Amino acid sequence: MVFLALPLLALGLSLASGPLSSAAASATPSPSSQPLLSSFQLQKSLPALPLGLWRKIQDIEKTAAAAAASAASAGRVGHHAVEHQLTFSAAPKGDGEYTAYEFDQLVSHDPEVPAPYPNATFKQRYWFDATHYKPGGPVFLLDGGETDGEGRLPFLKEGILQILSKATGGIGVVFEHRYYGTSFPVQNLTTDSLRYLTTLQSLHDSAHFASNIVFPGLESLSLNSAANKTAWIYYGGSYAGAKSAFARKLFPDVWWGAIASSAVTEAVVDFWEYMEPIRLSGPPLCIALLQNHTSMIDSLLSLNQPMITQRLKSYFGLGGITLDTDFVNALQSPLGAWQGRNWDSEVGSRAFFDFCDKVEEGEKEELVGAGGGEEWEWIEKLLPGLPENPAKRFASFKGYAEYVKENIASMCPEEDGEQDDCFGTGMYGGDGLEEAPWRSWSYQFCTEWGYFMGAAPEGHPTLVSRLITPDYTGQICRLAFPKGKLNRVPNTPNVTEINQWGGYDFAYPRLAFIDGSEDPWLYATPHSPHSTVFNRTDTLEEPYKLIAGGVHHWDENGRLDGEVPKVIQAVHKEEVEFVKSWMETWNERGRWRPE
Ligand SMILES: *[C@@H]1O[C@H](CO)[C@@H](O)[C@H](O)[C@H]1NC(C)=O
Ligand SMILES: *[C@@H]1O[C@H](CO)[C@@H](O)[C@H](O)[C@H]1NC(C)=O
Ligand SMILES: *[C@@H]1O[C@H](CO)[C@@H](O)[C@H](O)[C@H]1NC(C)=O
Ligand SMILES: *[C@@H]1O[C@H](CO)[C@@H](O)[C@H](O)[C@H]1NC(C)=O
Ligand SMILES: *[C@@H]1O[C@H](CO)[C@@H](O)[C@H](O)[C@H]1NC(C)=O
Ligand SMILES: *[C@@H]1O[C@H](CO)[C@@H](O)[C@H](O)[C@H]1NC(C)=O
Repeated sequence: MVFLALPLLALGLSLASGPLSSAAASATPSPSSQPLLSSFQLQKSLPALPLGLWRKIQDIEKTAAAAAASAASAGRVGHHAVEHQLTFSAAPKGDGEYTAYEFDQLVSHDPEVPAPYPNATFKQRYWFDATHYKPGGPVFLLDGGETDGEGRLPFLKEGILQILSKATGGIGVVFEHRYYGTSFPVQNLTTDSLRYLTTLQSLHDSAHFASNIVFPGLESLSLNSAANKTAWIYYGGSYAGAKSAFARKLFPDVWWGAIASSAVTEAVVDFWEYMEPIRLSGPPLCIALLQNHTSMIDSLLSLNQPMITQRLKSYFGLGGITLDTDFVNALQSPLGAWQGRNWDSEVGSRAFFDFCDKVEEGEKEELVGAGGGEEWEWIEKLLPGLPENPAKRFASFKGYAEYVKENIASMCPEEDGEQDDCFGTGMYGGDGLEEAPWRSWSYQFCTEWGYFMGAAPEGHPTLVSRLITPDYTGQICRLAFPKGKLNRVPNTPNVTEINQWGGYDFAYPRLAFIDGSEDPWLYATPHSPHSTVFNRTDTLEEPYKLIAGGVHHWDENGRLDGEVPKVIQAVHKEEVEFVKSWMETWNERGRWRPE
């Protein structure tokens, strides 16, 4: 190691007992029993996936799910416990309330990527609830999206499927996505084996299912869409929301209507705008401080002086991370908690606000002069080019540093010497089916969707370090998916595959868009400021609704006990209204026929 930081030595500071090692460093990390982010959120909202940390969180989730399941079977906890803070993602409910069924699905719907033998099939999982069914009622298919379908069962029990089925005498179905949960058309997840994983293949899956399904126990009813006697309506949130919109357009004969919630209809390679709703709607002082901290951290790292870099990392409890990029990537974790918010506190997390309280606390202490600014005075001597009163600025890092140390670094403490294994983003091993929860979506964004979340463009305020570039974030695409014999991952995700159908301006009859004004995905939806359709109106035929203060697909969950805020009750009511009007149109036609 070459020490460029000679002035440090000249000041007589030693690495072992430097000024940076007190304050935050002395706070005992309390390993949190509940990780800050679920494994699903970690993957969806950090620029690059630290696989070691992801595996750790998954283990915690599995243990928690198993414990909750056994507690539930002993009648000790309510059904909400397992979902807590997992925001509909990883942990199955395990209460066995619904039977899982399997549908024989075609391995490939694309003659150019043929199955190993003609008409080869695999078992695709689904669940349904027909307790509200009345003759003539519709079937609602909820697309499980990029996760285990079991995680979506709450929507069948007390969420949007239950609400719509009850109101219209319909049947609710949760349909698992190929390559997730237990629905695999292959034996492993090598690059070659992933060749049947495209958005279009999965859109064909739901269409083929709707056209052919005979529900067990309901054999006497002609419920499939091909019989023309039952209206099928698609529902999806997020990626599945975009699929819902595309399904209505690509298979209009199958889907009578579609509801697309937080639908990311525009695929974007460099999606720095993920942070914009956070920057614009987050607590203003916290956001201003984070911008300043980020720029200060970037300035310090850019000095490229190992001693300073080391002390900075250690201040956050992350001294064991070798690469600066991996360090600033880990610092993004608390921002991921923004997406984890939900109106139902038993489902969502308020971690983002706890984080901001902590960040602001550091600032307040600094203002009252109790922040120990003196421990940073050496910096002033060392770095005359830095902004005014850097000691003060540094002291205000304290809250941020402590939060990261307690909630993120504590997952893999510096003392254990394995922080690179945990927070590193340069190793992506494993191609067995059990790797699907991280690997399948990574493959999808590497090939078609992009959404690399990096720093804002120069000149635009950024909450994300300028070290986070699409090149860094895209590493996983090169490392995890080496070129196969039959398949390869493109150098850059081919977002045209998606945008040829979608885009910000997407509209179609009997297709509803429901978004949230504070959703970090807002800029990829039809409510994006990039939409060029001015004065887009909200009608019964083409509903276009923005939930004020809403985050990610906030209309998807509900509560049987009715403890639902007014704004969510209102959107649920409107959804019932427009679906009923679509059903009136269906009924007026007598028998379905194409328009
Ligand atoms: C595959 O299925 C199609 C449609 O059902 C059928 O027409 C075709 O004969 C089948 N091919 C083989 C080889 O079984
Ligand atoms: C993956 O599965 C395919 C068949 O689906 C098989 O031919 C191949 O050998 C497997 N590769 C590995 C690395 O297991
Ligand atoms: C359903 O409607 C389509 C489109 O009009 C038609 O091609 C098909 O034959 C109909 N199926 C039945 C079973 O009537
Ligand atoms: C952020 O930094 C700017 C420029 O140094 C300064 O004017 C501003 O007061 C800082 N904001 C906060 C909240 O500390
Ligand atoms: C990207 O996808 C589009 C749409 O399928 C296709 O026309 C184009 O050739 C693809 N581009 C590359 C570089 O593969
Ligand atoms: C959009 O709405 C505004 C206000 O209602 C109106 O002045 C304007 O003419 C409308 N523009 C279009 C293109 O309809």
